[in-house]
Amino acid sequence: MHVVRRCVDIADLVSTAASRQAGVAFVSAQLRGLDREVLVRLADEEIAVVGVTPELPSADEATLRSLGVDVILSADALQSLNDAVEAAIRGSQQDAPAGERSVVADWQDAVAATRRRGRVLAVWGPTGAPGRSVIALGLTSELAALGAPTTIVDCDVYGGSIAQLLGLLDEASGLLAAARSANSGQLTAELLCHQARAVTPTMRVLTGLPRADRWVEVRPRGIRDILSVTRELSAFAVVDCGFSLELDEEISYDTAAPRRNGATLAALETADTVIVVGAADPVGLSRLVRALGELRDVVPHCSPVVVVNRMRAGLGWSRADIVDTLARAVGSSPVVFLPDDQAAVDAAVVHGRTLGEAAPNSKLTRALRSLAHDLSGVSASARPRRGPRLAARRQR
Ligand SMILES: Nc1ncnc2c1ncn2[C@@H]1O[C@H](COP(=O)(O)OP(=O)(O)O)[C@@H](O)[C@H]1O
Ligand SMILES: [Mg+2]
Repeated sequence: MHVVRRCVDIADLVSTAASRQAGVAFVSAQLRGLDREVLVRLADEEIAVVGVTPELPSADEATLRSLGVDVILSADALQSLNDAVEAAIRGSQQDAPAGERSVVADWQDAVAATRRRGRVLAVWGPTGAPGRSVIALGLTSELAALGAPTTIVDCDVYGGSIAQLLGLLDEASGLLAAARSANSGQLTAELLCHQARAVTPTMRVLTGLPRADRWVEVRPRGIRDILSVTRELSAFAVVDCGFSLELDEEISYDTAAPRRNGATLAALETADTVIVVGAADPVGLSRLVRALGELRDVVPHCSPVVVVNRMRAGLGWSRADIVDTLARAVGSSPVVFLPDDQAAVDAAVVHGRTLGEAAPNSKLTRALRSLAHDLSGVSASARPRRGPRLAARRQR
């Protein structure tokens, strides 16, 4: 036996079950919120349940039995642990509840309640780390806080960073798992719901490539399939994209070779909205201008939202100067400015939290909240709702 996780609460238990890392859950009758619904969810995930009480018989034992936990162990009877686990597994195989609602159905209902087809927002930008991942994650958590089921897909073919930003270091790559399923034609909403881990009740994360050299497993066709299924599961799919759009075969003359940036191109072509991020400094802005030209060449129908990140007073340019420069170079696009806010970003990254959790009133979080409102079509006066965090225990 191998302990996958010590869950701090019901939400943690349910999200761990959904990640399908465990076969058996040990639950105490004292666990707050433990009810039949939770046990149905565990059964849906094919998790056997063993109740644990300080002693037998006891009131706790009766509570567990009334909820439907059949195998109960007293805490001092560890020598019978193996037998209890085997009995629980046998029991769960015999009477898996049929026709009960699953986590996937709940998510699909929540998506349907927003009355829209899931929209894909791709966050892209030039080389030089202008802040694509920070913005993609910040936007995801603010959209989720509005109550819209939102999934972030880490699609950076040069190596993912969303799992690190959220402190999810023990995660298997959701993107690779989904790409494999897509590749064999078996990707469904149900499967993607297991591959994209729930972080809060309205936010899921499809973690990215563990190593940059795994990019060959992520093909454009797979990305299109993954985003199409993500639309079924989410009101918004936010894609954190790699930076380059260069087409390798034009360099190598080998048109059959896999294209590293093919996945990025597929995401940009699929997206309903492309957000192009540039850094607010001379090098960052000249790269941004070039990137916007490049984007127009490869995805001509796309009219991007431009985000100038890390805006600060010391640069000596006003917002109007920057908007003018961009308009002269690449024509007019909506331009959004996000402030330089090292303290907020550090607070989030150090604790593996989203900006909304770690620095809810910082100027960067407030600017991202307002961008999320604009992109979602929800009026800016609507109060953001924050759900409880599901994955309370994470590793750094
Ligand atoms: N608005 C901001 N204020 C302060 N630091 C930021 C901001 N946006 C991004 N950063 C920092 O910039 C660096 C690059 O951000 P990241 O999102 O990883 O870039 P990219 O995904 O474009 O490579 C990180 O160290 C991040 O903390
Ligand atoms: Mg990144």
